[in-house]
Amino acid sequence: MAVTLDSRYVEGFIREHELGAMQASVTSAHEMLHAKSGLGNDFLGWLDLPTAYDKDEFARIKAAAARIQADTDVFIAIGIGGSYLGARAAIEFLKSPYYNNKSKNTPDVYFAGNSISSAALNDLLSLCEGKRVSINVISKSGTTTEPAIAFRVLRAYLEKTVGAEEAKKRIYVTTDRARGTLKALADREGYETFVVPDDVGGRFSVLTAVGLLPIAVAGCDIDALMQGAAKAQAELANPDLQTNDCYRYAALRSILHRKGRAVELMVSYEPCWQLMSEWWKQLYGESEGKDGKGLFPASAIFSTDLHSLGQFVQDGSNILFETAVMIDKAPSELVIEEDPENVDGLNFLTGRPMSFVNEKAFEGTVLAHADGGTPTLVLHVPAADEASLGYMIYFLEKACAISGYMLGVNPFDQPGVESYKKNMFALLGKPGYEAQKEALEARLGR
Ligand code: PA5
Repeated sequence: MAVTLDSRYVEGFIREHELGAMQASVTSAHEMLHAKSGLGNDFLGWLDLPTAYDKDEFARIKAAAARIQADTDVFIAIGIGGSYLGARAAIEFLKSPYYNNKSKNTPDVYFAGNSISSAALNDLLSLCEGKRVSINVISKSGTTTEPAIAFRVLRAYLEKTVGAEEAKKRIYVTTDRARGTLKALADREGYETFVVPDDVGGRFSVLTAVGLLPIAVAGCDIDALMQGAAKAQAELANPDLQTNDCYRYAALRSILHRKGRAVELMVSYEPCWQLMSEWWKQLYGESEGKDGKGLFPASAIFSTDLHSLGQFVQDGSNILFETAVMIDKAPSELVIEEDPENVDGLNFLTGRPMSFVNEKAFEGTVLAHADGGTPTLVLHVPAADEASLGYMIYFLEKACAISGYMLGVNPFDQPGVESYKKNMFALLGKPGYEAQKEALEARLGR
């Protein structure tokens, strides 16, 4: 289940001694993290989470998931950012991007409250018609506008369709242990609640109830997920760059960044990884992108995007490096059969699994991109299973924290996320924002 890093395709771009030169700053970041003495040290709950999680709540999550599987056709997880990406990514990776369309004995799982689109919410409401619906509203702060609006609409829908008493049994709340309007509402109405621990920030919260309840509802093995993360926690606790692939990944991306690579493009050759890349983009973008610094995290699916972004990666300005996530065991296999007429000229592939063709696409691409001036780091994930995913989640979280400390930022805050919210509230006329409203409207020419 262990994730490994193959750095051979950056060899022409980074000299051996450059990596060695990073050891001191990696060790210092490691010590800061483990001694809990660095910036944002009140948000380090994720570090020990794979072993120190709340076992009683974990049992309640499994019990709630079993109940939901028995009484629900459509399960809606309401949340945004760290309160939805991890769960959605895990379900798409472990089950399928087509999970909802598959024949199965678990509920369809939809995600709401991650935009302010009435079309998206209306579509979801129409999918609920005639179905047994349950809702999990997830918000650490309990005040985020997007999920609050979606919850208001979906709660009213549920109360109207099944009645207020039955709705109470179908609403699950994941929020702060004690604070916030959502917690107060849940206590008043008697909704079952789960906790986002105080010391775990949104984007580091997938292995708490935030991610675990929707993931378990979809029929994934959350015990195996935590076991994979626990293995990573044990194996990635040594600062030695020669043996710790997580830290080597952090160090190499930092070296490439210092050499002028401003963009890290996470690529995968399996479409089921697409949402994991979205999760990674939030994790790294919000953790590193501050104080005028940071790598811009972008993503692509190959070979799909070799027919779009591929031209730029091969031949455009050398602003990026790639991090390829390779799933060593294809999630499922298909063997290419012989065509008696060989109209497409592909009979030389007869008997070959598609994973073999995909592997050659990767090998050809990584060499072509190196020739074009784009280096690639390769992360190997053994399989699309829970244990490997748990390991990878922890690996990427820890590499992110080490990277942030090496960059000299607080990897655990997100001050930039507030700016748009303040402007939006002012423009919407929220009480208390009168002065800002006037100033912003003047800038908009109103
Ligand atoms: O990483 C973060 O903290 C953010 O992206 C949050 O997850 C996101 O803003 C949602 O916040 P909340 O869970 O408070 O609704």
